[in-house]
Amino acid sequence: MMKTKVAVLFGGRSVEHEVSIISGLQAYAALDREKYEPVVLYIGKDGGFYTGEGLDAIEFYRGLPASLKNAVRVLPVPSEKGVELVRYPMKKFGNNVVAEFETALPVVHGTNVEDGTLMGFLEMLGVPYASCDVMSSALGMDKYMMKAVLKAAGIPVLEAVEIDAKTFAADSDAVMDRLENEVGYPMIVKPVNLGSSVGISKAGDRRKLRASLDLAFDFSSLILVEKAIEPLREINCAVLGDREEAIASACEEPFGNDEILSFGDKYLSGGKGGKAGKSGGAKTGGAKSAGMSSLKRRCPAEIPDEMTAAVQRMAVDTFKALGCMGVSRIDFLMKADTGELWVNEINTIPGSLAFYLWEETGLSFSKLLDRMIQLSFKRQRTREALTYTYDTNILAGVSLGTPGGKA
Ligand SMILES: Nc1ncnc2c1ncn2[C@@H]1O[C@H](COP(=O)(O)OP(=O)(O)O)[C@@H](O)[C@H]1O
Ligand SMILES: [Mg+2]
Repeated sequence: MMKTKVAVLFGGRSVEHEVSIISGLQAYAALDREKYEPVVLYIGKDGGFYTGEGLDAIEFYRGLPASLKNAVRVLPVPSEKGVELVRYPMKKFGNNVVAEFETALPVVHGTNVEDGTLMGFLEMLGVPYASCDVMSSALGMDKYMMKAVLKAAGIPVLEAVEIDAKTFAADSDAVMDRLENEVGYPMIVKPVNLGSSVGISKAGDRRKLRASLDLAFDFSSLILVEKAIEPLREINCAVLGDREEAIASACEEPFGNDEILSFGDKYLSGGKGGKAGKSGGAKTGGAKSAGMSSLKRRCPAEIPDEMTAAVQRMAVDTFKALGCMGVSRIDFLMKADTGELWVNEINTIPGSLAFYLWEETGLSFSKLLDRMIQLSFKRQRTREALTYTYDTNILAGVSLGTPGGKA
């Protein structure tokens, strides 16, 4: 049997670069070698694409940026069978096609990649890929837009007020008056499109509100403010499939040390030491743990069966309403005393692809990837059945006139 060539893409110019390296290497290792021939396609912090021997091991990434000189820089070029990775700069003699692939597995996190940017690039290459498309990825990254779509679909989300930096700078007191009227304390202030709790804080009074707004605007020129849910429990649930058919995973309850789960809680608290690695500093310390799979969590979440069913139903509805594909994780806020639930956010490419939530349901990581890759080809077949071009003689019939003259 011919093996399918799969590019595993990770990295990118995102604050979650290192986390993506972990997720990417985990997926690379889990791909079924009987069926697939995986190739690493690492996106460096410089935006370049790299492949080559050794890029499938974490040691390479611990040695960055110096180790980059041992990688092969490539350019992805559309070809008949998919995409060829062409050495850049090219050698004068010999074959410059370093590798090729027929489908892509994007394992990227955060803005500049997960938000539809990478998907748009793959679309232009014309290659299938096993993740959300441009639209659903972009919707998933913008917390305000996501709420708008989910609201229209009748899915419960917290009302939010969106504020831009210029409006706040022009009259901060008017903005805070409005928030006090429309939202009320306690409030949560967050950048619309970041992850890992960056720039998010809670405000219980006007003085704290100003500080929270200042903080969030440090990270984004668009922020949103919503009611803070108290007492809070959080429940996450992943979904696998596409718009037509999708299934929900087990539910988990993540726990943090602070009121708001921080980047440190999410990525650095796992493993044996429970501390960031000595060498790498805060962000690379996560490489010592198993990424998202090591966050302090209870899985399955200890909630009543009916609530699990409700979360799973809402997760699937959210996935379909946004037009997702592949595997995404939907995070819920629960008011602990009443059991009320709201969709808080979606991670269109969750950390570790949420494989641990699927293992709980009996689906191995390698089978999960199998399904995702099948879905990538399914979407491609559907698209190929559509008409993208049609013969026209427009160019033959047009006259542009003389340059500089009238059109
Ligand atoms: N409305 C809210 N009420 C209470 N806590 C919230 C609310 N929104 C967010 N949080 C807390 O902040 C954390 C991060 O917020 P979230 O919207 O998930 O952003 P991120 O994309 O950074 O993960 C959540 O996991 C939760 O602990
Ligand atoms: Mg979150």
